[in-house]
Amino acid sequence: MSLRGATICGVGSYLPEQILTNADWERMVDTTDEWIVSHTGIRERRLAAQDEASSDLAIPAAQRALEDAGIQPEQIGLVILTTVTPDHFFPATACLVQSAIGATNAGAMDLTSGCTGFIYAMVAGANFIRTGGYDYVLVIASEVLTRTADWADRATCVLFGDGAGATVLGPCEPDQGLLSFALSSHGEHGDLLIMPAGGGRTRVTPEVIAQHQDCLKMEGHDIFKLAVRGIPRIARDALAKAQLKTSDISVVVMHQANQRILDASADRLGIERDRVISTVGKYGNSSAASVPMCLDDVYRRGGLVAGDIVLFVGFGAGFTLGAAVVRWTLPRFGAH
Ligand code: UT7
Repeated sequence: MSLRGATICGVGSYLPEQILTNADWERMVDTTDEWIVSHTGIRERRLAAQDEASSDLAIPAAQRALEDAGIQPEQIGLVILTTVTPDHFFPATACLVQSAIGATNAGAMDLTSGCTGFIYAMVAGANFIRTGGYDYVLVIASEVLTRTADWADRATCVLFGDGAGATVLGPCEPDQGLLSFALSSHGEHGDLLIMPAGGGRTRVTPEVIAQHQDCLKMEGHDIFKLAVRGIPRIARDALAKAQLKTSDISVVVMHQANQRILDASADRLGIERDRVISTVGKYGNSSAASVPMCLDDVYRRGGLVAGDIVLFVGFGAGFTLGAAVVRWTLPRFGAH
């Protein structure tokens, strides 16, 4: 079986309308704009409406990616949706989106890997194409993280935002598109970033709710250290597999958790800080959705041209890490 390549042939995102600023958080918890900006770089984030769930954000993001790719929904063979905030345990959120967008010929599944989810989903989707299983795969990441955040815990609640991003993957020449990837898992650190209750282990009871065990818990300092040590390692691993050096990278599209992590990663990789795209200031941390939201941001600003080497990096709950090296194949946005 001869392998073909797989590339990103369409990008889209969707942001809820409501903006939650640091000043808004100052009125709700014991925090300050100065603390949030100096410790994270976050100035504002988006808040999903009461009646908006992950699928509601994913649907317009997917439609924009399809429109950008010039692909009809019926041409999609598989929908992969990654999220830590699915609409339900089941059915998969991917199935709800598949039906809503009219991807009538597609299979659909959810995939979970914390904030690294988009890297895992993109790699999985690309390999379905490379092996000839499907021509077009829709990879979506969508989160309503503000819904699982503990709005009384100032150490976490100010960090998160809602949103969705999507890509259409399609076939290409073998030396284009996804060139290489590296994925890792360190499950021994699973308790550092966890929603303790609400899964199969612990049901949500009034006692659980009173103790906020149905909310996201994070040991931020420990996660920070795992991230800044792990990112250069996973990035170099992926680059080596593509036989590329850090100097070959055009831009880095990384999980948006903290400006200090973006800057430290640039420094440790030895690339200019402004090559690491930052959207954390305006969108906060939107978990798995942050990578495709960031990609759509730089793409629609005309920041990518065909031939660019894009390094994707994710890290988060698991603890997981992932990196993917892509030779970009779309022309500058607006030029096609
Ligand atoms: O997306 C998945 C991966 N997640 C991440 O990558 C997150 C990684 N971690 C981080 O980004 C950072 O650790 C945080 C932004 C979460 C926290 O920053 P930090 O510099 O590690 O702060 P800290 O947790 O060590 O807390 C420092 C101080 C503490 O006070 P004391 O003990 O020094 O008196 C906290 O109580 O800051 C206090 N603090 C706050 N103060 C004002 C914590 N949160 C706040 C707040 N406002 N919102």
